[in-house]
Amino acid sequence: MSQLIVLNGQIVEVEEANVSVLDRANLFGDGLYEVIRCYTGGLFEHGTHVERLLDGAAALGITHDWTRESLESAARRLQAETGIMEGEMYIQLSRGPAVRSHYFPDSQSPTIFITLYPVRPIPPDACTAGTSVITCPDMRHGWCHLKTVNLLSNCLAKEKAHRHGVWEGLMLRGLDRTTLPGSVEEYCDAPGELSSVSPGDKFAGYVTEGASANVFVVKDGRIATPPRENILPGVTRRITLELANRAGYEVKERRVLAEELLVADEVFLTSTVGEIMPVVNIDGHLVGAGEPGPITRRLASMYTERVASAKLRG
Ligand SMILES: Cc1ncc(COP(=O)(O)O)c(C=O)c1O
Repeated sequence: MSQLIVLNGQIVEVEEANVSVLDRANLFGDGLYEVIRCYTGGLFEHGTHVERLLDGAAALGITHDWTRESLESAARRLQAETGIMEGEMYIQLSRGPAVRSHYFPDSQSPTIFITLYPVRPIPPDACTAGTSVITCPDMRHGWCHLKTVNLLSNCLAKEKAHRHGVWEGLMLRGLDRTTLPGSVEEYCDAPGELSSVSPGDKFAGYVTEGASANVFVVKDGRIATPPRENILPGVTRRITLELANRAGYEVKERRVLAEELLVADEVFLTSTVGEIMPVVNIDGHLVGAGEPGPITRRLASMYTERVASAKLRG
């Protein structure tokens, strides 16, 4: 079996096809793919597949020089070189390598590769006699509690924050809307979800976490943070809960409605790199007095002490 593939336009042996470990497909799942069936050497519906790939790249803002024609010619070259007549062609296009940071790199050098392997066998009579299936919960974009590299949505939230000149994107679920934005531009250009909401207005959504941090709210001396469902329960979150309990605060892990953000006295983020970070403005609304609150400051200083004592222990 030939082991040739196309990498960034060149035909190379698969063993020599080096892609950076920093490729954003590897770090974040920040890429797209297509599978095309090759029948007797012909690429079935190649144009339709390639249109979908190019549309996806435009929607995600992946910049590249590929066209329908250049992709078709690369695919045909690979088919001719491998001689595979009955095959599965796989095309993957990613935003390319960049030092790990959720938001998009300033300049992109996308990675594209194409493989062609003989078609995988399917049960011989499955298409004539029929097959059996099993139902399962739809887990796509689920299992947030595992720190998986399936981070495209987090990247989009961080990219939106970046474009709005703020540090973090706070992610909301349960929004009362019927359509999703169709592209990164539309998603990022839209103002924050709470920008047109006044405190006291009814607002359906609830907050889960930041793109790369957990979130806490404080109201009347009580601390709340979203529960473990639909979040990555961070190490810093756990330490913060311990510190808050030790300091004698009332702390609850419970659903936090988005509208609570508008009336909170304090809001803060927790993460390994950002530690305990006060949030003073959300979508243009000041949080409390618009400056770090006393409970946040107390917990942040307890956290600093905790780090210092860990440093002493070595
Ligand atoms: C989605 C998400 N939530 C929360 C966190 C905070 O976790 P930790 O405190 O373990 O850094 C992270 C950190 O990367 C994250 O990606």
